[in-house]
Amino acid sequence: MLDRYWFGDVHRISPEAPVPVVHVSSTEDRLGGAANVARNIAALNAQSGLLCVVGTDEAGEQIVSLLRDSRVQAHLERDPSLPTTIKLRVLSRHQQLLRVDFESAPAHEVLLAGLARFEALLPSHDVILMSDYAKGGLTHVTKMIGAARAAGKPVLIDPKGDDWERYRGATLITPNRSELQQVIGQWKSEDDLHARVARLRADLELEALLLTRSEEGMTLFTDAGATHESARAREVYDVSGAGDTVIATLAAMIGAGASLTDAVSVANRAAGIVVGKLGTATVEFSELFPDALNDKQDVAQENQP
Ligand SMILES: Nc1ncnc2c1ncn2[C@@H]1O[C@H](COP(=O)(O)OP(=O)(O)OP(=O)(O)O)[C@@H](O)[C@H]1O
Ligand SMILES: [Mg+2]
Repeated sequence: MLDRYWFGDVHRISPEAPVPVVHVSSTEDRLGGAANVARNIAALNAQSGLLCVVGTDEAGEQIVSLLRDSRVQAHLERDPSLPTTIKLRVLSRHQQLLRVDFESAPAHEVLLAGLARFEALLPSHDVILMSDYAKGGLTHVTKMIGAARAAGKPVLIDPKGDDWERYRGATLITPNRSELQQVIGQWKSEDDLHARVARLRADLELEALLLTRSEEGMTLFTDAGATHESARAREVYDVSGAGDTVIATLAAMIGAGASLTDAVSVANRAAGIVVGKLGTATVEFSELFPDALNDKQDVAQENQP
């Protein structure tokens, strides 16, 4: 998915319809959707490969070129009949005037090729992360989860929509409040929430569920019970993309061998940093672990004769 921004000034109302006319003075393209998650993983100095479908149009080429500049290993299925997914925002004086979406479902054959590619890539990856934006790329998600779990790989899912049957057997699912509410209904109390999540996890054979709760932080539900992390943000500028940073950090930490509870604690710290940045931003390794470099130097000094 391409996040495209058009910036400009408005000086007049159109003679054609009562709408503002924006004189575009600058544009910006950024990797969006699953590509933003992959970019977040790479920012943490973890290796990430991205499997997805793009068209053969100008936006598809732009995604290819942005990925080439990133540290993400691209595995793109190209669908000549697909308009590459674009979310175009038109902004004037920091105000969004309009969003225009271009999207449609990829072709059946391309999705099957993607499934075969997934199975081929599986052995060379430690953690599988599915970032569901409901654009069709995850049509075969249930088969992909089955293949990954059979290969002993943890599967993390950022869900979309109310049909979670398709995520059956995943290791961890990371809904926000409204996504979870769509599936289990509105909970009446914290105890009620815990009971509903326990039922859902049992029904869908999910090892864990991490509910991200915006300014209320996040809660991890596993067989061992629930653990809560309070939100850590000192200043909040832009909350968009915080969910991407959370699941990207979880995947990187689990890939590095961290326990799920440790991974959640670090992911919560990462979210606290990213909401303090403007735009769909990433968190760098050095921001998340500022002492890591010093620790290394300390160890080096201690080891000196
Ligand atoms: N307003 C906020 N104040 C403090 N922390 C926040 C705020 N919003 C988000 N966070 C942090 O980011 C995490 C993820 O945010 P949220 O639950 O809103 O995810 P999301 O809705 O999936 O985000 P998005 O889909 O926009 O990327 C939260 O668990 C919290 O740690
Ligand atoms: Mg989200």
